[in-house]
Amino acid sequence: MKIDNKIKWGIVGLGNIAHQFATDLLLIEDASLAAVASRNFDKANDFAAEYNCPKAYDSYEAIFADKDVEIIYIATPHDSHADLSIKALENGKHVLCEKPLALSFEDAVRMIEASKKYNKFFMEAFWTRFLPAFQEIFAKVKNGEIGELTYLNADFTFCADLSGLNRLTDVKRGGGALFDIGVYPIFISYIMLGMPKEIIAKAKYHDTGVDVQTSIVLQYENAQAVLHTDLVSSPSMKANICGTKGRAELNAPWFMSDGYSIIKDDREEKFILPNLGKGYSHEAIECHKCIRNNQIESQLWSHQNSLDLSEIVNKIKKQIGLPF
Ligand SMILES: NC(=O)c1ccc[n+]([C@@H]2O[C@H](COP(=O)([O-])OP(=O)(O)OC[C@H]3O[C@@H](n4cnc5c(N)ncnc54)[C@H](OP(=O)(O)O)[C@@H]3O)[C@@H](O)[C@H]2O)c1
Repeated sequence: MKIDNKIKWGIVGLGNIAHQFATDLLLIEDASLAAVASRNFDKANDFAAEYNCPKAYDSYEAIFADKDVEIIYIATPHDSHADLSIKALENGKHVLCEKPLALSFEDAVRMIEASKKYNKFFMEAFWTRFLPAFQEIFAKVKNGEIGELTYLNADFTFCADLSGLNRLTDVKRGGGALFDIGVYPIFISYIMLGMPKEIIAKAKYHDTGVDVQTSIVLQYENAQAVLHTDLVSSPSMKANICGTKGRAELNAPWFMSDGYSIIKDDREEKFILPNLGKGYSHEAIECHKCIRNNQIESQLWSHQNSLDLSEIVNKIKKQIGLPF
């Protein structure tokens, strides 16, 4: 790879995930962090210095206008994903947008339409899909290694700070378990089993109106998925995929797994597939591949995949009565 052929990234919103992503970006030979943008200039300067980035902006508009930046990573709270992604696309940038894509299905549709209209690559940052262990277990399950899928269970929980108003407790910012981490168990059920025929969900709520605990059953023609997400339990982070001839289990925490087991006839076979860095590198590498191939979407996590996930999440949102 020629040094001058690097893909030039910009990051918008310099919080927790932006740091993790920037750390992994440094591990990719053909990636360069060209600019970062914060609402606060000192924060942008400090971030840029930490990751050896030449440009720091104190407004998101400024990075969208920077001709050097090819792809923007949107790392802001959920409620701003749609508008910021569309603005970046309008400005001729490719976009990798953090999950969840949007707070409504209609906004998710607007984002995909903008990618098509401006002919720029657009992907929801569903990093789990690109991890080596996940890709391998997915291929094996789809090839019938554990027979016909009949049952899947997955969870994502942690004890969050629910005091005060923050992005997890604030209804206006799409807070709560479902949109922040509940999308992961729904993702694995969707990618393994497809669109469910029926959805049953039940939630418990925080004083602010966001869900702190949501359990979901997805009913398929020949299978059921039992999923759970919450902001009040110590993590178990397990995912089990069960079929008529055996079962597959991703190492916990399953959504950032470095391996998996296949259990058949009381015999367990273990497979280890380490991630590059924490694992965010793999989604960035997929962006590079697509951009270099002039694709506006990934085949591994397509526009339709994101729309389907958004449709399921928004049906659950309506069923449990989230007020956004
Ligand atoms: N893929 C993953 O593993 C993963 C993990 C964590 C989070 N996420 C996703 O990434 C997004 C950001 O999460 P985070 O944990 O990084 O959040 P965070 O630490 O709060 O950072 C979000 C950043 O967005 C910017 N921002 C813009 N408008 C804001 C507003 N109204 N309130 C607060 N911040 C605002 C701020 O950056 P400036 O001050 O620099 O402008 C802030 O630092 C969420 O959508 C979340 O779902 C993904």
